[in-house]
Amino acid sequence: MKTYKIAIAGFGGVGRATAGLLLSRRERYRQVYDADARLVAVCGSRSGLADANGLEEEQLSNLEDGLSGVAFIEESGADILIEAGPSNFRSGEPGLAYLRAALSAGRDTIVISKGALVHSGRQLRELARASGAMLKLSGAAAAALPTIDLVEHSLKGCEVLKIEGILNATTNYLLDAMTTRGIGFEAALREAQEGGFAEADPRNDTEGWDTACKLLILANFGLGANLTMDDLIVEGIQSITRERVEAWRNEGFVPKLVGSLTNVNGAFRAQVGIKTYPLADPFANIRGKDKAIRITTDAMGETIAIGSGKEPLATAAAALKDLEHILTKRGA
Ligand SMILES: NC(=O)c1ccc[n+]([C@@H]2O[C@H](COP(=O)([O-])OP(=O)(O)OC[C@H]3O[C@@H](n4cnc5c(N)ncnc54)[C@H](OP(=O)(O)O)[C@@H]3O)[C@@H](O)[C@H]2O)c1
Repeated sequence: MKTYKIAIAGFGGVGRATAGLLLSRRERYRQVYDADARLVAVCGSRSGLADANGLEEEQLSNLEDGLSGVAFIEESGADILIEAGPSNFRSGEPGLAYLRAALSAGRDTIVISKGALVHSGRQLRELARASGAMLKLSGAAAAALPTIDLVEHSLKGCEVLKIEGILNATTNYLLDAMTTRGIGFEAALREAQEGGFAEADPRNDTEGWDTACKLLILANFGLGANLTMDDLIVEGIQSITRERVEAWRNEGFVPKLVGSLTNVNGAFRAQVGIKTYPLADPFANIRGKDKAIRITTDAMGETIAIGSGKEPLATAAAALKDLEHILTKRGA
């Protein structure tokens, strides 16, 4: 049986859910992949825990101060890094430092935060290519909603002509509440904040940046594009009024915040903004915090996927799907 030592950097909601799910699936990894998948280190911004023999669930509530940072993860002896820290696409940090170190050292890496992938995606891809490390990022590309996996596996060989995605749960919740219950933007936002799934500062979601990050990651890592944020037109939902939504509804249309990629002679144009859909369109019926993607290809026509997993478990499961891709490849 082959041993895989795994470290998790970033130990908030998603990092903890990933650790819990990883530990609960150890027997599955043994049976399916003949793999001893061992959690050897976890860390937040100031504290962490490491044990080369493997951490157990009950140890994870008592992190030790001072055990954090790139050097701490390096010293843990991990073969695989799962990065689940905060996402900042303007600086790429703190994830970028962890990812550079792991990929340079040839360590297979599973990325959940979007910032570094948007900021320095090309460099990270090159580091992975040079060292032979696998760089997996389902968690950063709409997580439980399959996106990259669809183009890489299910639609393999086809030319992608167009992609539309409802990629941000918070904005879909807000627009759905405004459309179905006739409430205004501020009231819907308050509700989402009280429910704990909209940030106190919601602009990353409402101004379209989160959707833009996911779209850019999908274009660059899934379709081989080389876009930067400057190439995207990004509009959010913050100025959509109750009256505007009501007018659309009276005309039989439903508004959604959509990220779009259009293949123009082999190059992708990317845009984030409001689109309206007639009631018969599947996108008009994506409710609450669900997400969706529609991919149009030359040979397989239209493919639609809808994701409705509950967070943070769904994102943890997306990251561990990546882990299984790694175990398959490395165990072969
Ligand atoms: N929540 C979701 O449903 C979801 C879905 C998809 C993707 N994501 C992405 O997943 C990531 C984590 O989300 P979350 O909800 O788990 O966030 P969170 O609860 O705020 O956790 C972030 C974690 O990162 C740690 N951190 C901050 N700076 C660090 C550093 N320099 N080194 C190591 N760790 C550091 C924090 O440490 P402290 O605890 O010490 O502050 C905290 O443990 C984000 O990038 C988010 O965009 C989240």
